[in-house]
Amino acid sequence: MANTSDFNGKWALVTGASSGIGMELARELARRGAKLILTARRRDRLEAFAAELAGQGTETLILAEDLCDREAPQRIFAATEGAGIVVDILVNNAGLGRYGEFVKNPIEQELDQVRVNCEATVHLARLFLPRMVERRRGWILVTASTASFQPVPYLAVYAATKVFDRYFAQAIAEEVARFGVKVTALCPGPTESEFFEIANATAFKRKVQPTAEVARKAIDALAKGKRTILPKRDGRLTAFLVRFLPVRLITWYVDKLGRPKD
Ligand SMILES: NC(=O)c1ccc[n+]([C@@H]2O[C@H](COP(=O)([O-])OP(=O)(O)OC[C@H]3O[C@@H](n4cnc5c(N)ncnc54)[C@H](OP(=O)(O)O)[C@@H]3O)[C@@H](O)[C@H]2O)c1
Repeated sequence: MANTSDFNGKWALVTGASSGIGMELARELARRGAKLILTARRRDRLEAFAAELAGQGTETLILAEDLCDREAPQRIFAATEGAGIVVDILVNNAGLGRYGEFVKNPIEQELDQVRVNCEATVHLARLFLPRMVERRRGWILVTASTASFQPVPYLAVYAATKVFDRYFAQAIAEEVARFGVKVTALCPGPTESEFFEIANATAFKRKVQPTAEVARKAIDALAKGKRTILPKRDGRLTAFLVRFLPVRLITWYVDKLGRPKD
């Protein structure tokens, strides 16, 4: 059967493709006929995933990089240019959190969240977007979070990076819309992945949504040019309701819910 998706035959670069939401976003794009550039730090994971995709007839390229390294986005861009690949779809998904009291958390782990969730997201978009604008064609998905709708004590830096991601995506979406480039902010609620274990944030792990469902809704939204997608129904409700509540009340409640046990 012919694949009629907009993404058919186009190259998509997915960051954080070694697990969780990123891996499923890549699978969903492959299902719609895209070719995949897979990036993350764990090369063995990327190789196993590329083999799975190749078995289904998807062309892939692996670029193992650590996005805490400020030079990594430039290396990723250079590798795609060097291979003569036109990247039409950029999925800025790699990210991490760190649960705990801000005054006790190791500073490097706090700063890594800013580096990966914000700095690398901006840098990759700045590298790939101008070519999309020139071609009058392109799609960028930025994985933010429902954590971007309110401050979150004990995930303070993480939630702040995610409001950055959402506002960044929504603002550039407006700037590039007239050039035919679509930008979508993906705001998942709690999702089944390695996130909570790595962030040591199991206190916030409840009613997780399957990654495949999040990815399908995200790629549908990207294809339709939606600016923002909240794939979880109760996430949509909470994001709406918090607009009417005083911030102090929200942070007080999250403090009760999430304060680490001594
Ligand atoms: N799970 C949730 O409940 C949830 C909810 C809302 C938003 N999100 C967001 O969804 C995105 C994906 O997270 P996930 O839930 O799928 O968690 P995950 O399973 O832990 O996946 C995180 C991905 O990011 C990559 N990554 C982390 N640090 C990196 C670094 N320094 N350099 C390069 N890649 C790095 C990881 O790959 P390597 O370890 O191989 O480098 C992995 O592929 C994140 O932006 C997260 O903030 C998650």
